[in-house]
Amino acid sequence: MTATPQGQSDGFLYDRVSQHLLDLVRNGTLKPGDRAPSLRGLSRLLKVSISTVTQAYQQLQDMGVLRVKPQSGYFIDGSMVAAGASQLPRRVSVSRQPRKVRFGDLFEEIFNLANDPQVVPLGAAVPAVELLPVKGLVRATQRALSRGPEKAVDYCFPPGDADLRHEIARRYMTLGVAVDPKDVIVTSGCSEALALSLQTVTRRGDIVAVESPTYFSVLRLIERMGLLAVEIDSDPDTGMCLDALQTAIDTMEIKAVVAVLNFSNPLGSLMPDANKQRLVAMLEQAGIPLIEDDIYGDLHFGEQRPATARHYQRTGQVLTCSSLSKTVAPGYRIGWVIADRYRDDIIEWKQATSSAMCSLPQAAMAEYLRSGEYERHLVRLRNAYRLQVETMRFMLGRVLPAGTRISNPQGGFVLWVELPRGVDAIELLQRAFSEKISLTPGMLFSATRKFRNFIRINCGHPWDARIEHAVERIGGLVRELLPSG
Ligand SMILES: Cc1ncc(COP(=O)(O)O)c(C=O)c1O
Repeated sequence: MTATPQGQSDGFLYDRVSQHLLDLVRNGTLKPGDRAPSLRGLSRLLKVSISTVTQAYQQLQDMGVLRVKPQSGYFIDGSMVAAGASQLPRRVSVSRQPRKVRFGDLFEEIFNLANDPQVVPLGAAVPAVELLPVKGLVRATQRALSRGPEKAVDYCFPPGDADLRHEIARRYMTLGVAVDPKDVIVTSGCSEALALSLQTVTRRGDIVAVESPTYFSVLRLIERMGLLAVEIDSDPDTGMCLDALQTAIDTMEIKAVVAVLNFSNPLGSLMPDANKQRLVAMLEQAGIPLIEDDIYGDLHFGEQRPATARHYQRTGQVLTCSSLSKTVAPGYRIGWVIADRYRDDIIEWKQATSSAMCSLPQAAMAEYLRSGEYERHLVRLRNAYRLQVETMRFMLGRVLPAGTRISNPQGGFVLWVELPRGVDAIELLQRAFSEKISLTPGMLFSATRKFRNFIRINCGHPWDARIEHAVERIGGLVRELLPSG
């Protein structure tokens, strides 16, 4: 048997094998009914042991991707692949009227469920703790404490810990973007970065353009700040539709644009570089700030880390918001905004609202980033998320009825699912809640009450029997809700 390469656990190798086969199915190299590579052949090709391939094949059988024929070997399951390869959700056109945002208690309910261990976590976009680098962070936290115990208990005023800002700037440098550490303002997660950015560039009553569908907390901020949202049609593949945005700019006074260009939430779309360039140029010409939320940018499934809008800016109008919540530790609440010409205003808002920030998590995260562990951790994390997204996509394709469409994101860890017309996602949510399964109804991602038959599914957790059962139940509940006739 081939030895396990150093530094790679069995789980990691086995995921790689499953991923390899799913790739072959997805890109059409292997079609329904085709014979899958032999255990021995794949073991040689991928330089892993036969038992690793056997484990991966068992998992793929459990998922229904492979079928075993006695004495003949493994075959690609036709029904499964046909279902798993369902089309992308449709682009939904929304009325381009600026509108007030009004939400009820649904947010509250979804956030409460996110922390309930009894509930199957398919609702909030939260990573599984077992995927996070807990040990590395504990070590980094201990180093931070022993190096500067006084610093850890002292006030840390905006713009935040100098070492951490330096590490964040250094990371942008590796992406080919020059950032001065003095321009990095540390925030409490990406949420605060978005809130401070909106507070700085808008006043009550202003119009803010957002993607449609868009991350619901942005709509919530707009609601609470007394702003108006104008939703711009967005494509499941390429994100915000720039012609629609241009029309909105030409016909109303837009004061800011908020967008997730890399693996948006919920669409999972990735804006092509040419569109990013055009978007930045359009907004620079119109004098409109772009608040880019790049929280998922490091979670790309392809080789290349996608560019940020900052890469294309010339006039300092891009406010880049991000955090380490989806990659390292949501509980450390380490986020940031890089805001160039808006820097001083943002710092004033930050001082006025929270005065100082927790010192220890900042010092610990600076240690963690400096150790170089982040890059290694990201390789594993991206592989895990990718496999989880693919697995969930296949399984949803199998259990949901004809007419369902599922996004096919190239990064991040959420899926956007269009259910057959007439299925009410709020009703589905209520029935799922009663069975201790969470999911997020599409309506939360728009102020227009559209997306009634859409849901977002979190794939932040490794596939297991509990999740599989929950997904099967969702399939059953959706069938119950199908309009008759
Ligand atoms: C697009 C997007 N932005 C921001 C956030 C919030 O990030 P944080 O937990 O760092 O505040 C999330 C979390 O779900 C998100 O999906």
